[in-house]
Amino acid sequence: MTSIPLKKKENMGSKRAMGAGFMSQWSIFFRQFLKHPGMIGSVIPSSQALVDAMLDMVDWRETRLFVEYGPGVGTFTRPILERMHPDATLLAIDLNLDFVAWLDARIADPRLRVVHGSAADVGRFIREAGHRQADYVLSGLPFSTLPAGVGEAICAETYEALRPGGEFLIYQYSRRVRRLIDPLFPTIIDSLEWRNLPPCRTFRAVREEALAQAA
Ligand SMILES: C[S@@+](CC[C@H](N)C(=O)[O-])C[C@H]1O[C@@H](n2cnc3c(N)ncnc32)[C@H](O)[C@@H]1O
Repeated sequence: MTSIPLKKKENMGSKRAMGAGFMSQWSIFFRQFLKHPGMIGSVIPSSQALVDAMLDMVDWRETRLFVEYGPGVGTFTRPILERMHPDATLLAIDLNLDFVAWLDARIADPRLRVVHGSAADVGRFIREAGHRQADYVLSGLPFSTLPAGVGEAICAETYEALRPGGEFLIYQYSRRVRRLIDPLFPTIIDSLEWRNLPPCRTFRAVREEALAQAA
């Protein structure tokens, strides 16, 4: 975990506390959007329907390293931890220090490692966490509004960071990210999640298996 001063953990036991937690999540998310619109890319966190659609793509039994880009206030982070194997690691990478501090202060799970930095450095973060490659990388990054060249660098690094057969799972409001992943990934399944507001595109990009790579 990062060495950021921690706030007192919220008591999420009562309905009132849960309601207050939900509102404060929306509030920090919206305030960060006003401060860094290009980095955040969305006014509200993702919906439960989108979370379920993305996480249903994962083979949780076989997953030992799951990487999340842009966890924000943890909309996916908590459900990932609920589904993840007890021996697995979740590496969550965010460029926004306020979100990193928020997650550090609120989620106490030894399987979670939150790092402050860019997804473009995923390979280094994976090595620092004691792993070689990831089984899955899930991205909530707003590729359409990232600075020039950053999306290309992140996608190339992600391809290298995945094990053969590993998957890059992306949710996005536009199909423009296809331009970045099409040259790298041989198999991409592209769908639309209507139940999210606004409807959201989902992409499942699969790195080829080792045998195909060797051929
Ligand atoms: C649209 S928000 C997604 C938040 C959350 N995952 C959700 O679905 O509600 C985008 C997130 O990506 C983060 N981000 C933007 N650029 C990044 C980068 N280069 N590396 C890591 N995180 C980044 C932002 O700080 C923000 O937390």
